[in-house]
Amino acid sequence: MEIGLFQDASSASLYAADIVGALISFKPNAVLGLASGGTPIKLYQELVKRHKVEGLDFSSVTVFILDEYLGLGKENLNSFYSYYNENLFSHTNLNRSRIHVLDGKIEDVKEHCKAYEEEIRKAGGIDLQILGIGSNGHIGFNEPTSSLVSRTRIKTLTRQTCLDNVASFGSLTEVPQHAITMGIGTIMECRACMLLAFGGSKSSIVAKAVEGPISAMIPASILQMHPCVQVLLDQGAATDLEMKEYYEHQVQNFKENMLLRMRA
Ligand code: F6R
Repeated sequence: MEIGLFQDASSASLYAADIVGALISFKPNAVLGLASGGTPIKLYQELVKRHKVEGLDFSSVTVFILDEYLGLGKENLNSFYSYYNENLFSHTNLNRSRIHVLDGKIEDVKEHCKAYEEEIRKAGGIDLQILGIGSNGHIGFNEPTSSLVSRTRIKTLTRQTCLDNVASFGSLTEVPQHAITMGIGTIMECRACMLLAFGGSKSSIVAKAVEGPISAMIPASILQMHPCVQVLLDQGAATDLEMKEYYEHQVQNFKENMLLRMRA
């Protein structure tokens, strides 16, 4: 695990866009795993900009989204499908047939999850997974106590996660109680991964995930076992880290390390 401390969320997002851009340049048919939420919005804005200004070409790129609220259809403005459409899909030349989403309205969820796993396999696996971290340590919607080898499935959301998302829904009763999410085992099979966390409100959970023991109570901590993970933090999210000085030093060759490992 490599920890990158950046001046602010913007510079971390520019770095993440550099990595995604480099991956697409050397592998035009790259497979990306995408996270929603507030954290990666600047990254997506930057990717859209690079597509429009520099011609970054998404036409052969395949994407898989991490999760979706159960019960919300594509047309629902709070669905993650709407989020990606608004922030990325509709502003790039991503080929619709290469966009893989979870359907919150699906009747046979079990079959849908199985098919999603199969689609990831058929696409050759995920080259680069983008992740955020929930205030309770979740990745995707793998809430604390999720099996560390879980696959794509339904999860019940914790009260904390519902509270964290209340702003988009207006009231707690409107927040869906369940979601479909890639499992932790599914996420761990990606070839490389970037976890982004910004702001002081994430500092305590980031320290637990990065420097604490691996535990199903902090699902993101399993990333310590992944051979190619970079954690991109702004100053606020890094506040509680014990080995901050070491990470500051480690930032040299940070990009080269990631690119080398992704090419391997
Ligand atoms: C979103 C997702 C979640 C978020 C996490 C952080 O697809 O899977 O794990 O990454 O809840 O959300 P933000 O970025 O809004 O703080």
